[in-house]
Amino acid sequence: MSKKVLLSGVKPTGLCHIGNYFGAMKQFVDLSEDYESYIFIADYHALNLIQNKEEMQKAILGILLDYLAIGLDPKKVTIFKQSDISEHTELAWIFDTFTTMPYLQRAHAYKDALVKDKEISVGTFNYPMLMAADILLYSPDIVPVGQDQKQHVEYARDTAQKFNKIFGDTFKLPEPMIMKNVATVPGLDGKKMSKSYGNTIPLFAEYEEIKKCVMKIVTDSGNDIPENVFAIHKLLRPEAELKKIYEEKKGKYKEMKDLLVEDLEKFIAPMREKRKELEKDIPKVLAILSEGSEKAKKIASAKMIEVREKIGVKI
Ligand code: TYM
Repeated sequence: MSKKVLLSGVKPTGLCHIGNYFGAMKQFVDLSEDYESYIFIADYHALNLIQNKEEMQKAILGILLDYLAIGLDPKKVTIFKQSDISEHTELAWIFDTFTTMPYLQRAHAYKDALVKDKEISVGTFNYPMLMAADILLYSPDIVPVGQDQKQHVEYARDTAQKFNKIFGDTFKLPEPMIMKNVATVPGLDGKKMSKSYGNTIPLFAEYEEIKKCVMKIVTDSGNDIPENVFAIHKLLRPEAELKKIYEEKKGKYKEMKDLLVEDLEKFIAPMREKRKELEKDIPKVLAILSEGSEKAKKIASAKMIEVREKIGVKI
């Protein structure tokens, strides 16, 4: 029996953090044995935020190194770049033609963006349609993501349904895969860890940086157990074991934070070293990406042939 298909991606808009890792990227690695996996770099999504050539190049290469350093094996996983596959933007346009403005106005990400900046780009508004195209081209069964992307996967599902209804059965309906305990990894301030909130622990942080981050974790002096420290710490140790330790260290915030620093270092150091090794041979790393993009292109272009036929532009 052929394997089920998995697809997901990360937007190259800054350093990956442990929220990205536990919420999504770890699943990319853990599931790669059992699923035919497609993991991509969402660079055209990032273009909404990064409009600088050098910065964009650096961010793309950064995510590629991250993917390999966390243990994605290019023999098992097709790693590719969105902008290498023009079918993504082509399909997004087709989706645009039958998607309504009010429907897109209901997207959480759009509403959040609007609060920050009234003059958001059309690309930001349209984000869910490009994301629907990213997903549907590869007919995945599951899309592992964090909670904040759930609605986007639902938009992809709705869009597939709508297309199928208008033009006939074409797209498989994808399911988001969200790990309950890590659906929303909290940041240093207890809010969702996010590149845009400045509350992250970078996934490849150096020891000193880890220390700095942990010391910044906001603690509430009214509690015996500092909730925000515990919430991050339980990503790294079984909760029952950790509860016991925190019970013993009651009130001693500094000791709890020191232990968290050590546990983070133990978890991060091997990946950080691997990333440094990978950095020594960039041409090799880029060759992995072009090979992946070549494979992905074949699948996406076959799907687009079917789509063009269904909508009647092929005569
Ligand atoms: P991005 O780049 O913002 O985040 C990458 C992944 O990390 C997850 N994540 C979290 N999970 C738990 N706790 C957190 N604090 C946390 N912060 C981030 C995100 O949910 C995501 O899974 N739109 C996507 C990229 C994308 C995509 C796709 C994903 C574009 N097309 C198609 C899947 C399928 C994004 O911006 O993720």
